[in-house]
Amino acid sequence: MKRNWSPDGWRSRPAAQAPEFPDAAALARVEGELRRYPPLVFAGEARKLKAHLANVAEGKSFLLQGGDCAESFAEFTADNIRDTFRVILQMAVVLTFAASVPVVKVGRLAGQFAKPRTQPTERRDGVELPAYRGDIVNGIEFTLEARVPDPARQIRAYSQSAATLNLLRAFATGGYADLHRVHRWTLGFVERSPVGEKFRDLANRTTEALAFMEACGIDSQTFQGLRETEFYTSHEALLLGYEEALTRVDSTSGDWYDTSAHMLWVGDRTRDLTGAHVEFLRGISNPIACKVGPSTKADGLLKLIEILNPRNEPGRLTLITRFGTGKAAEHLPPLVRAVEREGRKVGWVCDPMHGNTVTSDNGYKTRSFDRILGEVRDVFAVHRAEGTRLGGVHFELTGQDVTECLGGAQEITERSLSDRYHTHCDPRLNASQSLELAFLVAEMLKAQRSAAPAKVAEAS
Ligand code: PEP
Ligand code: CO
Repeated sequence: MKRNWSPDGWRSRPAAQAPEFPDAAALARVEGELRRYPPLVFAGEARKLKAHLANVAEGKSFLLQGGDCAESFAEFTADNIRDTFRVILQMAVVLTFAASVPVVKVGRLAGQFAKPRTQPTERRDGVELPAYRGDIVNGIEFTLEARVPDPARQIRAYSQSAATLNLLRAFATGGYADLHRVHRWTLGFVERSPVGEKFRDLANRTTEALAFMEACGIDSQTFQGLRETEFYTSHEALLLGYEEALTRVDSTSGDWYDTSAHMLWVGDRTRDLTGAHVEFLRGISNPIACKVGPSTKADGLLKLIEILNPRNEPGRLTLITRFGTGKAAEHLPPLVRAVEREGRKVGWVCDPMHGNTVTSDNGYKTRSFDRILGEVRDVFAVHRAEGTRLGGVHFELTGQDVTECLGGAQEITERSLSDRYHTHCDPRLNASQSLELAFLVAEMLKAQRSAAPAKVAEAS
């Protein structure tokens, strides 16, 4: 067990983005109750994910992390969970086939409720109220009553996470995730999409590969790996009282695990070296990640790595960069060089969403498909030039047919944003934009894999 660390040690550090709960006694009661609730995930699962992420750091696997920006109580339905799970699986199959690489699937699901905000308050028509901080904290309605942080919401978020996870586990192992079925859905997409023609060749080759395997006797009946999948959960460890309450000692290893999700990350606004969030994350043994934005400097990043992964364990720490299109060439090389120079083992993942959020002329927070794709392209190029590898991608997406991001084959325009704009926080790619993106990223990943071996691979 980690010395000099306890699950509540973060309480003596400054916590950025912390909600102000007016009723401290009610908060303590809720946290006490959560402490008695069963864990949502098991330490052994988190260790398994860590081993997969070690392969990501070594360039042998690719991480696909995606889901809602903010899960909400209102959008909690079996259909929503199923559709998001399905599109992530489809994307994973496309990436796996195109680049012949195992894809580690991690949802921003079953716990992604708390949101950091740029402004602590929101002003509308001269009225100023506390900002919405995610359904686990307060309500999105623009009333004072809704915006006051309510600890009881944490119980509801826990229950929703448990039910979501239960359904995800059932889908992953109960036959829904069968590779043949996932591929059939993708064939349907290729038929329907205006740009389907571009992807038909890859889809047909996948069909042939599946038929070949079947002819060799490898099918869903004979091979578990074709009818089941591994699916993991993750969220930002932002609301630390909630995370602390779900942090338990694993009886097998004696280590602390945050059992609210398999993987936790620290956001770009809370990664302060001396702050509460970093203090909390350093002590849990789950695989963890850190968002890396344009303000990150190489020396600060190295200090953060030393705090979060002092034993330099591969798979422990994933760095999720989010600079904005056109900015990676300036910001990423010094970071990659510093990490390489110090021999730090990390997975490099690209989040092309959070540096590319803009407000449309008609007032919607949106992102363009082309800029999202552009940042992925930029980041692949930097890694290629540096002799390192991009280990994964991180998207905000949903399986629903929303109109929140611009462009893609459906050519969503500013005018159509209002048609189905449902997000509680940032704009998400819809199912068809997500899959289209997966096909395009798959081509880049294939090129990366056929290029010269990465430095990490040479060294090992
Ligand atoms: C997020 O992932 O939803 C988020 C807020 O990201 P970042 O911390 O990178 O801004
Ligand atoms: Co977001």
